[in-house]
Parts: sequence; C-alpha cells; structure tokens
Amino acid sequence: MQAERLTPAIGALISGINLCEPLTPAQCSELSALLVDNHVLFFENQPLTPRQHRDLAANFGALHIHPVYPHFDDVEEIIILDTNVDNPPDNDSWHSDVPFIECPPMGCLLSARELPPKGGDTMWASCIAAYDALDDEYKVLIENLTAENDIAKAFPESHYGKTPEALAQLAEARKKNPPMRHPVVRTHPVSGRRGIYVNQNFTTRIIELAPDKSAEVLDFLTAHVARPEFVVRWKWKQYDLAFWDNRLTQHFANADYLPHRRVMHRATILGDKPFR
Ligand code: OGA
Ligand code: MN
Repeated sequence: MQAERLTPAIGALISGINLCEPLTPAQCSELSALLVDNHVLFFENQPLTPRQHRDLAANFGALHIHPVYPHFDDVEEIIILDTNVDNPPDNDSWHSDVPFIECPPMGCLLSARELPPKGGDTMWASCIAAYDALDDEYKVLIENLTAENDIAKAFPESHYGKTPEALAQLAEARKKNPPMRHPVVRTHPVSGRRGIYVNQNFTTRIIELAPDKSAEVLDFLTAHVARPEFVVRWKWKQYDLAFWDNRLTQHFANADYLPHRRVMHRATILGDKPFR
C-alpha cells in the first residue's frame, strides 16, 4: 500500500490495495492508522458490490442502519444516495454524519456509482487543523461547552416528508433520536488530538450559552472549519471510494450537477461516545 498526501491538513490517495477482496488483519490495521493520520483516504477503481462494501466496512466496527435514508433491501447497512431532479441533493452543507446518536460513527465509506458529466465533487475539512488554528483565548472559551445535535434540523419535513409514509418514517426517526448532547470540542480516541465537533447541519445550540451568544459561536466555528486551508476537494471517478474519519472531519457535497443524476453508496461504521 502507498499513501500520497494531498494537502498539508487532510487527505491521502491510497494505492496498491484491492478492496473488493477480503482484507488481512495487517491491512486493516494499516488502513486504520492511515485514516487517523490523514483524516480521509481515497481509493480509485474499487467496483464493490453492496455486500463487498458492507463486508469491507465491517472490518472496522459494527455498522449503522440509517433511520431516514433509503438502503438496499437485502443489504440494509448500505445507504443509496440517488440524487436527481426528483430527489435534489441535501448534502451541500458542512456536516459530520449521524451526530444525533450517543456513539456517532467513527467512519464512513462512500462509493461513487453513477456520476454527472461535471460537478458533484465532495470536500472534507479537518476539524483538528481547524481547532489547532484557533487562538488560545478562543480555545479556552469553548473547551467545556456542550452542544445539542438534532436530526430534525438536517432532515426537515419539507424535504423528507413528502409522502404520508415518508412523513411517518421521519416522525419515528425523530422519536427514536431526540436531540443529543456532545462536547463542542472532543478528543480523538486514537490520536488524542482535539477538534471541533459542532456542525452546520445538525447542531442547534450550545446549551451553556444564551441564544445570541450560542448562535454567534456556532456561526463562527462552522464557518471556521470550512476555511480552504483545512479542506481537501475530491473530484470523483466511477468506483472511487472515500473512507473518512467521521470523528473529527466534516464534509460537503457540491450540489452543482442538476438536472443530471448522481448515485453514491455509503456504509457507516459506528464509533464511541465523544469525550472532552
Ligand atoms: C454522505 C454524504 C457526500 C456525497 O454520504 O454522508 O454527505 O458526496 N455524501 O455524496
Ligand atoms: Mn454526510
């Protein structure tokens, strides 16, 4: 396996591995270490079937089944993100995945299946590099704060409740996933590095702050994470795969390709409870 770093802060292109074949324990450990060092790994030409995709992800932990996104009938751990004029993209804002559960995902594996002729790039930001760049005073201000993360903010009825069945599924998802509190600054459980753990899509408020101040801090932190020096941008080719460390990165999918279609498959690996 070879790793080519893509930017100073984040991202590596990995070559010399076939992810369609079962991994050896040594390959799994090597990939886990590369993930922690680089925050997001990219692989080219990995035409995984949904089952191979699931089995690959399962090397790294138990898998999450998403309460809203559609999945394969026979491989429910694999989400199908099929965006087009009838189902416009909703991932064009900065977020980490599934911060609304007690133990949010440690990582996700996203496979490009059908791509528009142009556009549809995805960007990832290092929340560790963003945290490191804050001045000391700001780090002190936010170090013991707690934020609420709400599935209802990212999955609004206007987009996800268009049929009675979809509306009922959404209501059920919200009932099962009430707003979840996590530290604003969390420590990566493997590297011990700290990073920003609030995002534009899901975070509604910082509970220790008055509403105005909470909004000001969230606006600042969410804009700060997205600064270009913390970001890598990936231009997809069919069967490329991205494996991101969802603990301290955020991502943004450019929604610049309608009326063309874009289809991605995602596996979501559960992680541990965020701590300060
Ligand atoms: C995701 C997501 C980005 C993309 O799968 O969580 O945000 O590029 N997708 O489709
Ligand atoms: Mn996402």
